[in-house]
Amino acid sequence: MKKIISVVGARPNFMKIAPLHRAFKKYSDKVQHLICHTGQHYDEKMSKIFFEDLELPQPDFYLGVGSGSHAEQTANVMIKFEKILIDEKPDLIIVVGDVNSTIACSLTASKLHIKVVHVEAGLRSGDRLMPEEVNRVLTDAISDMLFVTEKSGIENLKREGVSDGKVFFTGNVMIDSLAYFKPKVKNSNIHNHFGLELNKYVLVTLHRPSNVDNKDQLIKLIALLNTIAEKRKVIFPIHPRTKNNLENFGLLNTINPNLILTEPIGYLDFLALTSNAELILTDSGGIQEESTYLGVQCITLRTSTERPITVEVGTNQLLGNDLGKAKIAALDVLNGNIKKGKIPELWDGKAAERIAEIIVKYLN
Ligand code: UD1
Repeated sequence: MKKIISVVGARPNFMKIAPLHRAFKKYSDKVQHLICHTGQHYDEKMSKIFFEDLELPQPDFYLGVGSGSHAEQTANVMIKFEKILIDEKPDLIIVVGDVNSTIACSLTASKLHIKVVHVEAGLRSGDRLMPEEVNRVLTDAISDMLFVTEKSGIENLKREGVSDGKVFFTGNVMIDSLAYFKPKVKNSNIHNHFGLELNKYVLVTLHRPSNVDNKDQLIKLIALLNTIAEKRKVIFPIHPRTKNNLENFGLLNTINPNLILTEPIGYLDFLALTSNAELILTDSGGIQEESTYLGVQCITLRTSTERPITVEVGTNQLLGNDLGKAKIAALDVLNGNIKKGKIPELWDGKAAERIAEIIVKYLN
């Protein structure tokens, strides 16, 4: 029996590991699949609710690292994860995405000569000022198998000298979760709860340091949202980082009453919100992909994207931090001028099955 430990740390990791956990069940005579939660995200609404919504079991290991500077957080994960690896001696670990837990655990395993699998490898924004970009480049450089969600990833890895034999184009595990749980969305009561009319509201998420840690930028963003709130109800589930900054910068009393600020929302209710939004404004990576899959209009408030397929074939518009442009584009969408999109290749709900099959073959 081979042993695999998959790592989750922060909110965007949970929906990527859930379909892999399901896929490995088919091979329970050959591999044992364990889950380690680093505790990078720890609030009930940033973590626990996702385990429930995504039908994930309790993690087998919980490191409880919590928040801190980048160095503190990364180092704390490494110290604690090393002990787990020494005790458990897994044959392979799986990391997903680009958060600090991803690089911390892959680096720890690599130094112990344990094979590292990176799921959602090869994405590049080209912007090294983003902590996630540093995490992506470094994780890919030390991974033994790299599973890619879109073809730009293959090109990026080739350019960085990763040998072809390590790279597999298998699709998007986050979309696996979306496809699997979409039928459940009709049970959500979230629209009634907030008095939202289907396809007649705007959904907002903002948490990137470049947008929310800078007071001037956050003031401009709130002004943009206030303008949109004159046309439609706007719902804005707030990440703890953004909430802290709105409080610290004294901006909470500048919000239009039609702009609903709420706590972070669980997976299924959030999926209900994305599925039925008229427009999404975001700086998230994953939501660019989810909106493309759902065919929902998305405006990304960033200067670069590591997920170019969402702009090339999907419904995403990348509008940088020129908020004047973003305002014109948002009002345009609300006037019915929409961007038509297609679902990218292999985003078919079966990526995790393909990945599990390749990994099991490799191990046995
Ligand atoms: C992290 C990821 C980012 C991802 C985001 C999704 C890195 C470098 N960044 O950013 O890629 O898009 O998660 O949410 O790994 N906090 C809480 N409760 C929590 C978690 C965080 O209050 O459960 C607060 C703390 O004040 C903390 C701050 O949020 O200092 C930031 O958390 P952190 O994990 O450092 O980064 P995120 O901004 O969440």
